[in-house]
Amino acid sequence: MNLQLRHEARHARVLIVDDQPANVRLLRQMLMGEGYQDIRGITDSREALATFLEFQPDLVLLDLQMPGMDGFAVLEQLQSTVPGDHYLPILVLTGDGGRNARERALGMGAKDFVDKPFHVAEVLLRIRNLLETRFLHLQLHNQKAVLRSQVEDRTRELFASQTEVLDRLAQAAEFRDVDTGEHAQRVGELAAKLGSSLGLPADEVALLRRAAPLHDLGKIGIPDSILRKPGPLAPDEFSAMKTHTVIGARLLSGGGTPLMQMAQRIALSHHERWNGDGYPAGLRATDIPLEARIVAVADYFDALTHDRPYRQAVAPDSACEMLRDERGRAFDPEIVDHFLDGAELHR
Ligand SMILES: [Fe+2]
Repeated sequence: MNLQLRHEARHARVLIVDDQPANVRLLRQMLMGEGYQDIRGITDSREALATFLEFQPDLVLLDLQMPGMDGFAVLEQLQSTVPGDHYLPILVLTGDGGRNARERALGMGAKDFVDKPFHVAEVLLRIRNLLETRFLHLQLHNQKAVLRSQVEDRTRELFASQTEVLDRLAQAAEFRDVDTGEHAQRVGELAAKLGSSLGLPADEVALLRRAAPLHDLGKIGIPDSILRKPGPLAPDEFSAMKTHTVIGARLLSGGGTPLMQMAQRIALSHHERWNGDGYPAGLRATDIPLEARIVAVADYFDALTHDRPYRQAVAPDSACEMLRDERGRAFDPEIVDHFLDGAELHR
């Protein structure tokens, strides 16, 4: 036993359950002679469970033959209390060294047994071995908990830094665009609300919240003369503008994470229309990825309800009307219905 374990052994809590006061006394003296300090002894086995729960022993010395409630009944109670991944040593002391009793006790969670009358040295050795295993087990358990919390910390940090980079990327995409301010982030929030009202699982909703703000990332590749043009675009300018979908998708392509893959689908397909009149691929209905259909609605509504240099914001009620008009034309009817049902939430 190494030093640390020896140190712990002295602080080990030992519970003795034996109906014979003389046995309890003898065991207590043996243990104290060996340096154990925290010992509890009871002679009424009916108190075993309550004492166990209150005392939280590291080791139980348990007599099998006791009146009222025998050692097997105590084992049964303890078994149901100790969590499966905990190692609680129970050393059974038995006057009936019969094979059946031993096998039954071992089957019920006893870790070792000693025949009465016992040899002091043997009992102490067995106790020491059991406690050594107990403390190694506890150490392992603690290390696992420490590692788990370190991994959780790192994961949180990674998530935070990833989110920050993505936020800044979304801001970069907006930087040269008309004065849209917090448009990208609002689209993320709106898309997430919509996704969750459509019943998407929480992890998908979380991805959507972070992927949606990147929908216009490809505008980075559109010339200022087109991007910042105050009036309507000429046909060739509009054709160039449409390429922000494929440029964004190309920028986000090859991503190894579900987040990047979702962001790519959204960037590529957020201007597709339910009736097939959209771009860049002219996809129709459910051929358009669900996330892109959701972002299309959120993008449209948010753009309408905020000022742009070339027009004033539309009131939410009117924007809802306009959205209704596009139900089944530009947008997925089911998503529009969900949006309108929850419209109060978005005002
Ligand atoms: Fe767009």
